[in-house]
Amino acid sequence: MRLSFLGTGYVGLVSGACMAEIGHEVICADVDKEKIAKLKKGIIPIYEIGLEEVVERNVKEGRLSFTTDLKAAIQESEVVFMAVGTPEDPVTGEADLKYVFSAAEAFGKHLNGYKLFIDKSTVPVGTAEKVTRVIKEASKEKHSFEVVSNPEFLREGAAVKDFLNPDRIVVGATSDKAKKIMEQLYRPIVRSGRPLMLTDVRSAEIIKYAANAFLAMKITFINEVANFCEVAGGNVKEISKGLGYDSRIGSRFLYAGIGYGGSCFPKDVKAFIKTGHEFQSHFRLLEIVDEVNMSQRLRPFVKLCELWGENMKGKTVAVWGLAFKPRTDDVREAAALMNISEFLDAGAKVRAFDPVAMETAARTLTEKKLMYTKKAVDALKGADALVICTEWDEFRVVDYTNLKKHLKGNIIFDGRNVLERSEAEAAGFEYYGVGV
Ligand SMILES: NC(=O)c1ccc[n+]([C@@H]2O[C@H](COP(=O)([O-])OP(=O)(O)OC[C@H]3O[C@@H](n4cnc5c(N)ncnc54)[C@H](O)[C@@H]3O)[C@@H](O)[C@H]2O)c1
Repeated sequence: MRLSFLGTGYVGLVSGACMAEIGHEVICADVDKEKIAKLKKGIIPIYEIGLEEVVERNVKEGRLSFTTDLKAAIQESEVVFMAVGTPEDPVTGEADLKYVFSAAEAFGKHLNGYKLFIDKSTVPVGTAEKVTRVIKEASKEKHSFEVVSNPEFLREGAAVKDFLNPDRIVVGATSDKAKKIMEQLYRPIVRSGRPLMLTDVRSAEIIKYAANAFLAMKITFINEVANFCEVAGGNVKEISKGLGYDSRIGSRFLYAGIGYGGSCFPKDVKAFIKTGHEFQSHFRLLEIVDEVNMSQRLRPFVKLCELWGENMKGKTVAVWGLAFKPRTDDVREAAALMNISEFLDAGAKVRAFDPVAMETAARTLTEKKLMYTKKAVDALKGADALVICTEWDEFRVVDYTNLKKHLKGNIIFDGRNVLERSEAEAAGFEYYGVGV
């Protein structure tokens, strides 16, 4: 099938490349000229395991191309995916749909025959109806079309694998024709045993928010248990294990730490709460999840304030891990960046290291008192404390003799519980974890 993506960001690029991988002819379009120019030169703008090979292979085999020409992309396709960003509105906390409506308008304007407009972005319930109105107006109703909801569940860091082996594919569609096209699109993935769930459009839109909100709640739950362990005793790692063996609970998303971040959970939880308000329905549980997570993320800063006081002039903090989670260079809503900002505001110097996210972090945080170091060990030099913010595998195996040699102080705040308290303490460190 010939298809295009409006929006070649994280989701558009991964989904487009994977759709080409399963045999479709895909045009990835974007309004960002720089991004498309890079992709045309074979430069992948994001760090995602396995993506480069998939892109390279499919471009070479003529199934994947990139363009800024939205008109051509729309007109040459049988179906059009919309994968633009739906960021949080900084004032209201709602999902900002301006990019969604602008993509819908372009689709309507250039529509040249029956096509599906497939919404892959995460959007509040009722958006498909709004988008339908925008397209009708822009197309002057010259051609028929249908809006389908097909939310994306891929995880950054495992995006290619997730897209090709999803737990489920959710499709919200109205007509049998649209449902058939969607089944045809995903046939190679379904054939390998992955379920495609057909449902109504509103349910599909809600499933995505409910899934992210549930996962955010699970993380927050274990974080609250961890905080309780700190005063009551007990080790949250043991408790997670004990809970996870229960098949009704499951072991995933039960790792305590300094909260969730990234481009999805924080904004989606807030947007779901806001959508609730719109319908006079109050997600009290999610309001608490959001609030708890905000304070959880700042635990390293709060702990060092307790130890040093709020004026950190003369102190240096080494930070390991900048990405919001391992195996990605995404630093959106990353706990590391929030803590670094607080340390800098409090007068401290920061030396930071991340295996892949230094460039993206440096685009957000550029301050004289913040130094990005080439190696993890360099971040330690002359620092009074080490704060671990991302659970990269390479931080799990620590040579304490080396740590001792370079770190001036003896404080470790392990925000992801990657180290063992007993080993750190035996090496002479003052160790703080999260509920361990
Ligand atoms: N990142 C994830 O892990 C993930 C996972 C599942 C779902 N989602 C959802 O998918 C959507 C996209 O997220 P993302 O992380 O890929 O965003 P992104 O910011 O990485 O990419 C969005 C892209 O859309 C482009 N764009 C904006 N307006 C456009 C237009 N009118 N026409 C064409 N292109 C346009 C932007 O230039 C940008 O390249 C969001 O709703 C997000 O919540 C993201």
